Amino acid sequence: MAGPLQLKKDKNILIAPSLLSADVLNIEGDIARLGGEADWLHVDIMDGHFVPNLSYGPDLVRALRKRYADAFLDVHIMVEPAEDFLDMFIAAGASLITVHAEATKHLHRVLQRLKDAGIYAGAAINPGTSKELLTPVLYMADLLLVMSVNPGYGGQSFISETLEKTRIFSELRASRGYGYLIEMDGGIGPKNIAQVSAAGCDVAVAGSAVFRQASPAAVIKEMRILSGRG
Ligand code: DX5
Ligand code: ZN
Repeated sequence: MAGPLQLKKDKNILIAPSLLSADVLNIEGDIARLGGEADWLHVDIMDGHFVPNLSYGPDLVRALRKRYADAFLDVHIMVEPAEDFLDMFIAAGASLITVHAEATKHLHRVLQRLKDAGIYAGAAINPGTSKELLTPVLYMADLLLVMSVNPGYGGQSFISETLEKTRIFSELRASRGYGYLIEMDGGIGPKNIAQVSAAGCDVAVAGSAVFRQASPAAVIKEMRILSGRG
């Protein structure tokens, strides 16, 4: 079973480096450069159809699980239809699978399938998607992913207007007692982690800001401090 997903008591922000920005010929070496500072490993799965790029598949998730038995593998699937790809990532050893609400006609069924399989269930929305699409599943989602770039590539600019959705999900959680974590993904790094954290984000994904630096471990530490929840 995957590790605990609930907010830590100390309310620290979680940092999830995105392996999309790691060296594909030396992913293991790049994970070593994280120096044990990463809370989660974020794995982006792209189908060239839902998003205009291709990336990894279940074999990478399986290899990561074999090599890092205790790692929290945060698998973000940008594939359509999402329901056709669940079993292969469950079997590969994902801790959490996040599906896009735009990529399935059956979001509730997909989240229920993940929960029934004993893994955590996340629901994502693109920058151009209304937060209301997630309203019916707020009670059951373990995580909401508010995309802060249009998915498909690393290294894009943060879309600050998406922070409003994070703020509202955070307020709704407080007022209605929901249990989800809120994750943001895209264009996040030391320069904007304070804003992201202040909006109520619990898990910050960071790809290029972490791996394209001399010391990824130092960047993660810096991000935790700058978040104000370090
Ligand atoms: C974008 C992916 C992101 C990406 C983030 O489609 O979902 O996880 O790797 O990369 P940065 O942090 O470089 O924007
Ligand atoms: Zn992602």
